[in-house]
Amino acid sequence: MNPTIEITDLRQSYGGRPVLDGITLGIEGGVFALLGPNGAGKTTLVSILSTLLRPDSGSARILGHDVVREAATVRRLIGTTGQYASIDEALTGRENLVMIARLLGLGARRAKQRADELLGSFELEDAADRRVGGYSGGMRRRVDLAASLVLPPAVLFLDEPTTGLDPASRSRLWADVAQLAADGCCVFMTTQMLDEAEALADRVAILQDGAIVADGTVAELTGLVGEETAVLVGRDGEAVRTLDVPSSAGGLAAALAGLDPAERGLRVELRRPTLDDAFIALTRRDHRLDLTGAAA
Ligand SMILES: Nc1ncnc2c1ncn2[C@@H]1O[C@H](COP(=O)(O)OP(=O)(O)OP(=O)(O)O)[C@@H](O)[C@H]1O
Ligand SMILES: [Mg+2]
Repeated sequence: MNPTIEITDLRQSYGGRPVLDGITLGIEGGVFALLGPNGAGKTTLVSILSTLLRPDSGSARILGHDVVREAATVRRLIGTTGQYASIDEALTGRENLVMIARLLGLGARRAKQRADELLGSFELEDAADRRVGGYSGGMRRRVDLAASLVLPPAVLFLDEPTTGLDPASRSRLWADVAQLAADGCCVFMTTQMLDEAEALADRVAILQDGAIVADGTVAELTGLVGEETAVLVGRDGEAVRTLDVPSSAGGLAAALAGLDPAERGLRVELRRPTLDDAFIALTRRDHRLDLTGAAA
């Protein structure tokens, strides 16, 4: 079976500087999270996959359809936020959703019904009849997301979907994404929030210097940066420092025996690496070769 998203040797440069330097990736389905430092090229990749930007070379297919040559077909299969299905500031939230639903071919009654459903699930009922121009940033983002879900898409692109959302809206969005994925939608998201990737993603990839430097489940990625570490914890619960534990038998005892007298009363905790640790380690240029080995 073909992957839902198939990316082959995709390249994009700006002013002679490669931003995507030959990306090859197949995504079967589920929730895929793309991580990477600012400027890594995440939005560029999402723009290409959602037909908004034509790549310099290479190809990408969504459910077998080429994003350049079959852009119109691809647009019917995907949902995306903040871009071509753009929200009209002069219209109310409800009017925007009804208009988009009509443009997508729903009848007048069904369009109104769908708008109501979405206004309800994004808790926008109170603001529904106010102009979007007067919405707060978070409300604006929720309308934008609602617009991308007027017709449930086969593939949904979310570029940093929860940036600027308050905690309640954020967890509601997480639940929506999980539900969409459970219903069979493939979600391709970018995020800077590693807890978000940890909570939602079946698979995570890290983009750095134009290449995918790590790709796998959260467990696989955290496994790359090593096993548990022994951490000395202060009375406030904050880590004071990581203990250097020799790998030999009795290593921990030896490390404890070597503690500074002032540190003797402190607690030692064994901590597993988190996705944060993996991200920091994997995107640190000096350590990349050691950690990714075959991938680098
Ligand atoms: N239209 C453009 N013209 C020139 N350079 C661009 C253009 N779009 C993006 N870039 C550059 O390409 C690089 C990647 O940008 P991109 O927006 O894809 O990164 P990103 O990973 O989404 O970053 P962020 O985490 O900040 O959103 C950046 O160095 C950016 O300055
Ligand atoms: Mg971006």
